[in-house]
Amino acid sequence: MSTTSIVPLHMIDLIRKKRDGGSLDAREIGFLVAGAAAESIPPEQLAAWLMAAWLRGLSAEETRALTVAMRDSGEKFSPARLGKVAVDKHSTGGVGDKTSFLVAPLAAACGVVVPMISGRALGHTGGTLDKLEAIPGYRTALTLTEFEAVLAKCGAAIVSQTPALVPADRALYALRDRTGTVESPGLICASILSKKLAAGLDALVLDVKTGSGAFLRKREDAEYLAALMVATAEAAGTRTVALMTDMGQPLGRMAGNWIELMECVELLFGERPEGSEDVRELSLRLAGWMVHLGGKAESAEAGYALAETALEDGSGLRVFFEMVDSQGGDVRVFDDLKGFHKPGATHVVEAWESGFVTEMDTTALGWAVQRLGAGREKAGEPVDPHAGIEFHARRGARIEKGQPLATLYATRVALLAEPEAILKKAITLSETPPHAVVPLVSRIFTRETAEAYLRDAVR
Ligand code: URA
Repeated sequence: MSTTSIVPLHMIDLIRKKRDGGSLDAREIGFLVAGAAAESIPPEQLAAWLMAAWLRGLSAEETRALTVAMRDSGEKFSPARLGKVAVDKHSTGGVGDKTSFLVAPLAAACGVVVPMISGRALGHTGGTLDKLEAIPGYRTALTLTEFEAVLAKCGAAIVSQTPALVPADRALYALRDRTGTVESPGLICASILSKKLAAGLDALVLDVKTGSGAFLRKREDAEYLAALMVATAEAAGTRTVALMTDMGQPLGRMAGNWIELMECVELLFGERPEGSEDVRELSLRLAGWMVHLGGKAESAEAGYALAETALEDGSGLRVFFEMVDSQGGDVRVFDDLKGFHKPGATHVVEAWESGFVTEMDTTALGWAVQRLGAGREKAGEPVDPHAGIEFHARRGARIEKGQPLATLYATRVALLAEPEAILKKAITLSETPPHAVVPLVSRIFTRETAEAYLRDAVR
């Protein structure tokens, strides 16, 4: 008779192993993740392990095992019955980052299905769900059955996480937030990817921001995370690319909730408003990759062309309206985009001197948007759909003293002063133009280039 039996695991051993620089295997990681999801491992032990992981780092194998175990820790969405390739986009977040409202309908119009599970505003960055909820009636909290029904009808749906999706991340992220262990590449990678991959994606396009408004400010940190996410998602069976994109200034001319939707719907109507060129271009680049990875175009460039056609022939707009309507939103608000915009208070900030806009501290500008009422200080607080900032000048523009630089929209007059002061400090006006033109997309990681980057980073 065989005496081989599985050795029971104990959390204290996993903490010691990581503390001493060891690597956990997939079974050990699975034990830890299951214990976090079921709340059977005490928080002090999970917190101790997280700190050990933060200090020692996670190997590529540990990161992959953690991602997969977290992905599988709760209920999952399966797009298989929809009979189409499921593709999504994830952005590491920024100010005025509104591409979801364009890429989801454009990629869907090109024949893939886009099951997008999104987040809310927290800190200096905005949240896709808060923006969508500016549309009266729009429901973000759909059941998975409702989610599937919207996807079957429209090809795209944008919803919030269900309580049962990736419970391990909910437990671990709350602890990381309280123990100074958020900024670990392996932990960030597993947290982001587990939530995205729980939607059953065949392919994923990552938009990793760099520059003054990015979540990771140092370029090498953002690059490492991008490469790690691509390699990890690919190893977990999802075709993935990452585009490193500029967040050294707000994306487009609007930052807020309704005003960001307004900017996107103008673009979906085929308009080309001044100041929105970068939103249009980035959305087409991202959608192009989604369409390509989803097998509907030979290359990302061919995908771009298909997405541009969907933008220009109105098919993207039709998908967007259908999605909003299917999720309970009142599409009549789009009949008069400007008329629906009713901020409590409006104030134009004029240029205090003549010069070129050389720098924008985009994180500070994000805080200004939040303080106008568009974002929240604590999870659960309400946001003002009509608060935000409209920027009248982009980086590199020449502006004369007294010319409008930005328009602030606030909940009430008393909320205008602090954001105005922040904005005046955040924008640098100089006599000479900026030295270099910053590319919108500075680097692209595919599986091959991501793996090569990680191999070099280890050496
Ligand atoms: N966003 C996430 O979802 N998780 C992280 O760890 C960091 C950013």
